Amino acid sequence: MSKKEIEGFTIFFTGLSGAGKSTISQLVETKLKELLHRPVTVLDGDQVRQHLSAELGFSKQDRDVNIRRIGYVASLITKHGGIAICAPIAPYKEARREVREMVEQYGDFIEIYIATTIEECERRDVKGLYAKAKAGEIEHFTGISDPYEEPENPELRIETEGMTPDQSCQLVIESLQKLGHC
Ligand code: ADX
Repeated sequence: MSKKEIEGFTIFFTGLSGAGKSTISQLVETKLKELLHRPVTVLDGDQVRQHLSAELGFSKQDRDVNIRRIGYVASLITKHGGIAICAPIAPYKEARREVREMVEQYGDFIEIYIATTIEECERRDVKGLYAKAKAGEIEHFTGISDPYEEPENPELRIETEGMTPDQSCQLVIESLQKLGHC
């Protein structure tokens, strides 16, 4: 078994609400389990907020705490040879950099920007939250009344428009293959 096959690593998706992070991360999880026969832990934004960060809101400070918690869990998983897939919005560059530093002590950190435009996210509005944010019913909504700092040097940037989730998943798998992870 090569070293890469037993090393832990973290895939960190970032992007607007409704960009497709959860859908793509579920597909990548299934594909990786098939290919590697190793456990994969998904830290999805909504699930983490339900279980690990239930008391937090959406101020910059609370979002940073949330992202650091996700980063800490991902770093432990990576340290112990596991595979972590994180899928929060993670709108702030500095918090993403901190998570990268935590994880890279133990293994690769693969940052993937799901670069779906705000127009497309608003058009999809799967959870109906953009409509509410525009009506002023939700404050500090990312992309509407709160910032999203685009990643400048992610390991991969996926423009999902005109692409199926399976095609996006395939791009992730190809990136992992190039890095020797599958
Ligand atoms: S993060 O900014 O801290 O990374 P996180 O990914 O955990 O955000 O949570 C985002 C999810 O919370 C969104 O997909 C949406 O369902 C919900 N949400 C509720 N209020 C907001 C808000 N003000 N801004 C963004 N997302 C919100």
